[in-house]
Amino acid sequence: MTPHLHQRFPALAETLPHLALSERPTPVRELGGLGVWVKEDGAFGSGGWGGNKVRKLEWLIPDARRRGRRSILTFGGLGTNWGLATALYGREHGLETALALVDQPIDEHVRAQLGRLEASGARIHRSHTKARTVAMLPWLIVRNARGGRPPYLLPAGGSSAVGVLGYVEAGLEIAAQVEDGSLPEPAHVVVAVGTGGTAAGLALGFQLAGLRSRVAGIVVNDQLRLDPPVLVRLARRTAKLLERRGARLPRLRLEPGMLDLTRDQIGAGYGHRTEAAARAADLAAAAGLALDPVYTAKAMAGLLALRDAGRIGDPALFVHTDGPR
Ligand SMILES: Cc1ncc(COP(=O)(O)O)c(C=O)c1O
Repeated sequence: MTPHLHQRFPALAETLPHLALSERPTPVRELGGLGVWVKEDGAFGSGGWGGNKVRKLEWLIPDARRRGRRSILTFGGLGTNWGLATALYGREHGLETALALVDQPIDEHVRAQLGRLEASGARIHRSHTKARTVAMLPWLIVRNARGGRPPYLLPAGGSSAVGVLGYVEAGLEIAAQVEDGSLPEPAHVVVAVGTGGTAAGLALGFQLAGLRSRVAGIVVNDQLRLDPPVLVRLARRTAKLLERRGARLPRLRLEPGMLDLTRDQIGAGYGHRTEAAARAADLAAAAGLALDPVYTAKAMAGLLALRDAGRIGDPALFVHTDGPR
C-alpha cells in the first residue's frame, strides 16, 4: 500500500524510497476501564519484532541501500529495542548490523532482550558508557565497514531526519483514522520519549495533516538531552529533508510550543523501575494491554498523572510503541 507521505506529496515517490515492513493502519481501540484510546503500534512489523522502531526502518533501510551501504552501525542500551529491530529487519534486507551498547540496569526484562540480541546475528560491542562509545567510534567504523564502504551510521533510536519520517507517516495515518471515523480527534496524543524521533515525527505529521491534536511526550531517558528545542530541531531537519526531496509543505509552526514534554516519570533514571509505572502497567493489564517497564508503562503513568492534574484533555490517544513477539 502506498504510504501516506507519497500519497500526499507525489514527488517524494521518486526521491524518497520506502520499504513496506508491515500491514497498515495499526488498529485503534478504546481501552475499557481507563477511558483512553490506544493505537496498537506494537503490532507494526512483519516478523520477529514490532513496534515504533520498525516504522523508522521502513525509511532507513532503503536509504542505507540507496547509499550503497552493506552494514549499519548504531547505538543503544543493553536492552535496546531499536538495536534488535535493526538487526532483524536489516538482516532480512541484506544489511549486517553492529551495535555499541552502553550499560543499563540489568533485570529479567533486559536479560531476555540481550538473549534476543545475541541470537539476532548482530555484532555486539559493549562500550559501557557514552564517553567510551565516542572514543571508540573511529575503530567501530573501520571494524564494521563492509564491501569497502563504511557502515551506515545511525543515532540511538534511529532518530535521524530520515528515521523520523516513520512517525510523520504515523501522524498522517492517525489523521486518516480520524477522518474515516475509526477514532475521535484526540485532544492529546501521548507517547514515550526515548530519543525523541517518535514524538517529533508525530507533531510534524499532525501539522502536515491539519490535525489539532497535541503531542504529549513522556520522557523516559535521562542519558540524552530531550527538551522541546531538541525535538523541534529534529522536526525541522525532517521538514527540510522533505522539501529538499521535492515536497511542497504548508506553513508549519515548528517551535518549542508545538509539543508538551514532561520529565516527571523518569524516576531514578533510564531503565529504573518506578512505582507509578508498575501501577499503570497493572491497570493497563486489567484492561488487556501489556506494557513494558522501560518505555510504555512510564508513558501510561504519565498520561494518567497528566489527566488527573487536568493537564491533558479528552479524548487522549496512547500510542503503544512496544512490539515483542
Ligand atoms: C518501546 C519503545 N517505546 C518508545 C520508544 C521511544 O521512541 P523514540 O526513541 O523515538 O523517542 C522506544 C525507543 O526509544 C521504545 O523502544
